[in-house]
Amino acid sequence: MIRTAESLKIKELPGMDLVEKKLYKLLEGSHENTYNICKRLIHSGGKRIRPALILCVGQCFDNVKEEAIYASVACECIHMASLVHDDIIDESTRRRGLSTINHEKGNHTAVLLGDYLFAKAFEILSKNKLIRSMEVMVDAISKMCDGEIFQGENLFNLDQTKEDYYRRIYQKTGVLIAACTQVGAITADANEEQIRAFRVYGENLGYAYQIVDDLLDFIGDEKILGKPVGNDLREGNITLPILNLIKHKEYKEWMKEKLKKGNIEENHNEIVRFLRDSYALEESFHEAHICVEKAKKSLECIEDSIYKDMLLNIAEKVLVRKN
Ligand code: IPE
Ligand code: IPE
Ligand code: MG
Ligand code: MG
Repeated sequence: MIRTAESLKIKELPGMDLVEKKLYKLLEGSHENTYNICKRLIHSGGKRIRPALILCVGQCFDNVKEEAIYASVACECIHMASLVHDDIIDESTRRRGLSTINHEKGNHTAVLLGDYLFAKAFEILSKNKLIRSMEVMVDAISKMCDGEIFQGENLFNLDQTKEDYYRRIYQKTGVLIAACTQVGAITADANEEQIRAFRVYGENLGYAYQIVDDLLDFIGDEKILGKPVGNDLREGNITLPILNLIKHKEYKEWMKEKLKKGNIEENHNEIVRFLRDSYALEESFHEAHICVEKAKKSLECIEDSIYKDMLLNIAEKVLVRKN
């Protein structure tokens, strides 16, 4: 069969099976209860987009070394840790189609399990002396925490700007995705211009990824998403669709009133209708689309290959993802 970017699937990327095996292996040495929780988290799926990005970038240089496999395991651990902590913050009950750890085992266990996963990520990076990748990952984690704190300070704030939103989603999501594409290039011995290009690709992909996630929180299907919809507004997280809606004065007044009363979930269907009527959904999709175009453009300096095409496809598919 002729391999084309279209026929390549994320989970079938060369090296992905090894990442999966090493992920289980890394967490195996823990106490039985800890391992069981980790195993359930890994087993429950997840799209593995971050490790796939590292491997796919490496494939663009035909140079996926063992370091890229270790870095992929580390970034999936960091990602899972951030999800476990994020679910505590968002008081979320479902993730990847299962009960969240905070919901099932309590916040105490969830905090420690997140920390455990962060520690494991650094174990694999430091044991294999991946110093530069570690620097990039450490920077990502500090920005992710900063982003979550910034989000917490702006809950229910309808006067925040779009710049605030973009800064937050860069920190929350863009920075880890960018770390992955950057590390993919670093471990493949790319030159500085190429590393920079993949970093910019990842940042823009990250923006689009979070904008679409925020849209799915309004219009997604809970069963396909594997996590609750309507959670953002319930928790006071003002995302792009709402910022586009409240540009219209009458909707801003309405929203202010509803938020004051504190029963926003009762108005979910009405809000979705407003988002459609005011074209706020469409505008938000358009903004995600612009980010995808920027991501694709940043790869112009990279030599053509099916793996580069795959990265271009991944960017486009973010816009139509359902989970
Ligand atoms: C969820 O990330 C959190 C966001 C950054 C939107 P993913 O959508 O990649 O989650 P999994 O790993 O597939 O569950
Ligand atoms: C992304 O934000 C969280 C992280 C980057 C950890 P969300 O709060 O929107 O993610 P979900 O929707 O819970 O997956
Ligand atoms: Mg969340
Ligand atoms: Mg979300």
